[in-house]
Amino acid sequence: MAETTPAAPSTRIDWVGRSCRLLRATAAEFLTTRPFEGLTIGTGIHLEPKTVALLTTLGLGGARLVCTGNLNSTQPETVEHLRAQGVTVFATQTTDPAEHAASLDAIIAEQPDLLLDNGGDLFARVAGRRYPGLRGGTEETTSGRTRLVPMRAALAMPVLVINDSPIKQFAENRHAVGQSLFESYLRFTNRSTQGKRVTVFGYGACGKGTAACFRNAFAGVSVVDIDPVTTLEAHLDGFATPLRDQAIRSADILVTVTGHPGIVTAADLALLKDGAILMNGGHFPDEIDAAGLRASAVEIERYEAEGIETFRLADGRRIHLLGGGHMANLAGPRPLGNTVESMDLGFALQARCLERVARGGVGAEACVVPVPADIDAAVATAYLDLAR
Ligand SMILES: NC(=O)c1ccc[n+]([C@@H]2O[C@H](COP(=O)([O-])OP(=O)(O)OC[C@H]3O[C@@H](n4cnc5c(N)ncnc54)[C@H](O)[C@@H]3O)[C@@H](O)[C@H]2O)c1
Repeated sequence: MAETTPAAPSTRIDWVGRSCRLLRATAAEFLTTRPFEGLTIGTGIHLEPKTVALLTTLGLGGARLVCTGNLNSTQPETVEHLRAQGVTVFATQTTDPAEHAASLDAIIAEQPDLLLDNGGDLFARVAGRRYPGLRGGTEETTSGRTRLVPMRAALAMPVLVINDSPIKQFAENRHAVGQSLFESYLRFTNRSTQGKRVTVFGYGACGKGTAACFRNAFAGVSVVDIDPVTTLEAHLDGFATPLRDQAIRSADILVTVTGHPGIVTAADLALLKDGAILMNGGHFPDEIDAAGLRASAVEIERYEAEGIETFRLADGRRIHLLGGGHMANLAGPRPLGNTVESMDLGFALQARCLERVARGGVGAEACVVPVPADIDAAVATAYLDLAR
C-alpha cells in the first residue's frame, strides 16, 4: 500500500470555511468577476471563524480588507489567521469601550471605500463626516438599523441592512437560534427533554424556533407572550398557552426570548417547581433577574465548568440558572452559536449587498434600507441549487 503523507491538522476555521458552501460558490464567481478590485472594505464585525469565510470571499473578490471586531468577541486565533492571510486587523479581545473605539477609529483613518458594520459603530463615525471615496456599505443588525435610521440625512449613502432580509429572519432567528438554544440546554445540562414541560417566553422569530425544537424533542411546550395576537398564533400552532403563573408553575425548563427585561424575577420564585431550569436566549442578560435570584437564595452552588448556578431556597427547593442568564447559545462550555449554514446564508447576503454597493447599483436613496428583493431571491436560488 502506498504511504500517505499525513495532512496538517485542520482547524475549526478550515471546517467552517469548507461548510460555507454558498460563500465558496460566491468566492469562485468573485475570482473572475472581481467586484472589489482596487477597493478597500473596512469591517467592524465579530472576528471568529465564521466571519473568516466572509472576509476570505471579499478578499477573493479583489478587496483590500481592514478589519476590527466587536466588544468582547474577538478570537485571537482568528486575528492570527487573518493577519497570516495579509489582512490588516486593528483589534484586541477587550471589554474596554475606549480600547475598542480606538480600533474603530483606526479603520476609519484608512478611509475604506466600503464599510461592513455590525451595530452601527462605523457608520456613526462617518455620519456628517464623509471622506472622499466612501461609497456606502452594509449593516448587519437590527440594533444597528435602529441607531442609524435617525442619521439618514447625515449619512446620505447606500446602507443595506442584512437583518431585515426575510431570509435572515427565518434562517437565523427562527431556525438557527431555536436550534442552538435547544442544543445549549443539552450541552449545559446533559439532561433529557422527553416528557419534560417547557415554557417559552416570547413567540417572536426566536421563540417560535425554540418552542418548535423542544416540541420536536418530545417535550410538552407552553408559550407565554404579552401580545394576545401572537399568543393566538402559538395556540393555533398547537402549543399550550396557559396564563403566565400557571405556565411558570408547570415548567421543568423555562426559556426567555423576548428582548425585554424582568421576564422571570425573584417574585416568581414562589411559583417555580423544585429543580426548574432557567435559561435566556434574548440579547441582554436581564430577561432573567439573576441578581435578584442570587439575593433570594440561602445558598448558591456553582458548577463553574458547566456554567450552572443552583440556588437553594429556604424551603429546600433548588432552582438552576444556565450561563448566568447570558444568551445561553453563546455561554457555557463550547458555545458555538448559530449553525454554519445560517451564517453562510447571512454572509452570502452580505457579500452580494457589498457587491451591489461597490458597483453603484444602489444610490443614496437606499440609506438604511432592507436587502433588495432581487438579492434575496438570488441567494435563495443559489442555496436551493446547492441543496438539490
Ligand atoms: N441568542 C441569539 O443568538 C439571538 C439571535 C438573534 C436574536 N436574539 C435576541 O432574542 C430576542 C428575541 O428576538 P426576536 O427576533 O424573537 O424578537 P421579536 O420582537 O420577534 O419577538 C419577541 C416576542 O416577545 C414578546 N414579549 C415582549 N415582552 C414580553 C413579556 N413581558 N412576556 C412575554 N412575551 C413578551 C413580544 O410580544 C414578541 O412576540 C431579542 O433580544 C434578540 O436580540 C438572540
